[in-house]
Amino acid sequence: MARITASVYTSHVPAIGAAMDLGKTAEPYWQKVFTGYEFGKRWIAENTPDVIFLVYNDHATAFSLEVIPTFAIGTAAEYAVADEGWGPRPVPKVVGHPELASHIAQSVIQDDFDLTIVNKMDVDHGLTVPLSLMFGERDPKAGAWPCPVIPFAVNVVQYPVPSGRRCFMLGKAIRKAVESFDQPLNVQIWGTGGMSHQLQGPRAGLINKDWDNRFLDRLIEDPAGLAQVPHIEYVREAGSEGIELVMWLIARGAMDEDRRPVVRQRFYHVPASNTAVGHLILENPS
Ligand code: DHB
Ligand code: FE
Repeated sequence: MARITASVYTSHVPAIGAAMDLGKTAEPYWQKVFTGYEFGKRWIAENTPDVIFLVYNDHATAFSLEVIPTFAIGTAAEYAVADEGWGPRPVPKVVGHPELASHIAQSVIQDDFDLTIVNKMDVDHGLTVPLSLMFGERDPKAGAWPCPVIPFAVNVVQYPVPSGRRCFMLGKAIRKAVESFDQPLNVQIWGTGGMSHQLQGPRAGLINKDWDNRFLDRLIEDPAGLAQVPHIEYVREAGSEGIELVMWLIARGAMDEDRRPVVRQRFYHVPASNTAVGHLILENPS
């Protein structure tokens, strides 16, 4: 059987990708951000999974206002890196895991969660920046990322967005799906996006450090309680783009239910571009 061994949580700020791609990581502003990921890079080198199930949001790149799937699972063999206006990021293409992805789709849909099946899609900064943060700079010509990735896109851009509660329940269904796969795969689930930020309107630039840190506390200690927080609180307290944080509840819901996770890394920093950066690594006890 396959097993989820750990979950990784991180913001996906596009300017972080640009800082890496343009060789600015040693600049003092960016260095403060990247120090929070030094542990993660060492950790993932020692704990490279067989597959990453990567929960992220598309930013009107693969999906437009014409089609808005609430939850979309990538079942393709590979995904091209999207051109978001400055050309595709110079990172490897993403190799998928169609067999496990199809199995998860089958199991989760039969468990009453409606997923959109995506056989062709380009992946944007929501997916590639977390990979860059954890795996470091990768030459696109040198081949693929260190392991296959199943992209799982959540609509947190166009209302109505899914509730934290639904995301948490979906995480549990994903765990059940992974555990019923008949190959002994080590699977990590990553929850990405957030933390507090608002990119638009009179409150643009909003950051709420207290709320963010309470979110991190509760994600670790009380995820079921945190899952009850209504979406309007995310928007009010963490800004219009802070709603991206519901995706972290999918990853947390997929962790073991009755055992406290081991906290391997916790990092919080303001600012990076317009957002607060948060990062956690939680392992299931072995
Ligand atoms: C920024 C943050 C995001 O989450 C995003 O998707 C786009 C831009 C920003 O900080 O500028
Ligand atoms: Fe975003």
